[in-house]
Amino acid sequence: MTELLRPRRSALYMPGSNSRALEKAKMLDVDCLILDLEDAVAPDVKAEARSQIKDAVSAGGYGDREVVIRINGLDTDWADDDLKMAVEANPDAILIPKVNAPSDLEHVSQKLKVLGRKEGLKLWAMMETPQAMLNAAAIGACGRDPAVGLSCFVMGTNDLAKETRAQLTPGRAAMMPWLMTCVAAARAGGIDILDGVYNNFQDLDGFAAECVQGAEMGMDGKTLIHPKQIEACHTAFSPSEAEVEWARKINAIFDQPENASKGAIQVDGKMVERLHADMGLRAIAIADAIAARQSA
Ligand code: COA
Ligand code: MG
Repeated sequence: MTELLRPRRSALYMPGSNSRALEKAKMLDVDCLILDLEDAVAPDVKAEARSQIKDAVSAGGYGDREVVIRINGLDTDWADDDLKMAVEANPDAILIPKVNAPSDLEHVSQKLKVLGRKEGLKLWAMMETPQAMLNAAAIGACGRDPAVGLSCFVMGTNDLAKETRAQLTPGRAAMMPWLMTCVAAARAGGIDILDGVYNNFQDLDGFAAECVQGAEMGMDGKTLIHPKQIEACHTAFSPSEAEVEWARKINAIFDQPENASKGAIQVDGKMVERLHADMGLRAIAIADAIAARQSA
């Protein structure tokens, strides 16, 4: 269950039918790649996209980037072929769209087992249906079930808007209860959660503001549709230098022998509890993982 802490600040979708994008991805400074077979791929090129993704993932060359294949919906005729290909290509994870309930993930796990799922292949779940919002806690609890191996939620805000008729407005007021419910469900299940996409990829200011909002909400990162969104996304979701410096400072102070029995101390005029030091350890670990990646 203890998965190595890996930064998941950015996850760039690319259509599996776009061979140029699959190649270009090897050069992009992005944490995760979502190679799509679902919404971004038209019905008549599903088979071609499947075979391109298989070749690209099998050939490798994606370095530290976490490679995720998004299959078609479980109720489509494409899903079984997608799953078979994904097991053969063996990416880091398979992203299941339109998950409604834990039984969907259990069903996929059983199929993967029969297909010869390799150790370490994770599942990610799109959270994008009204049912998923109502079953979020139970779906998140699959993060505690090693047979399922769920490691991340991905918010599908476009589908959620379509299915619920709630509108995606600046500030996302109507979406907020569901987004925060999913954050809580992800934390309860011990998994990560990535925010939905920002469709207007030419509007970099609006995008940057939504990244900041997502980070404040506790999202681990954001899903992206265009390479030009990566930079602002990393700025918002990377621990700042000041945050890391503060985290190191308060941990060092708590580590001093005279503070061994204290639960709360004063640092620079602020009350600091051990829980703040613990929160800081995560910021330090993420910052160290990012630094290690950059120097690799
Ligand atoms: N991944 C990798 N590379 C991408 C990319 C992506 N998601 N989006 C664009 N690029 C590349 C293009 O291939 C192009 O590369 P080139 O200069 O080497 O030819 C470059 O970035 C500039 O692209 P641009 O002309 O600005 O955009 P476009 O018109 O080619 O593509 C989209 C626009 C929206 C069609 C494209 O960004 C896309 O397909 N995004 C992902 C959509 C998706 O997967 N949706 C499903 C989940 S919501
Ligand atoms: Mg969708």
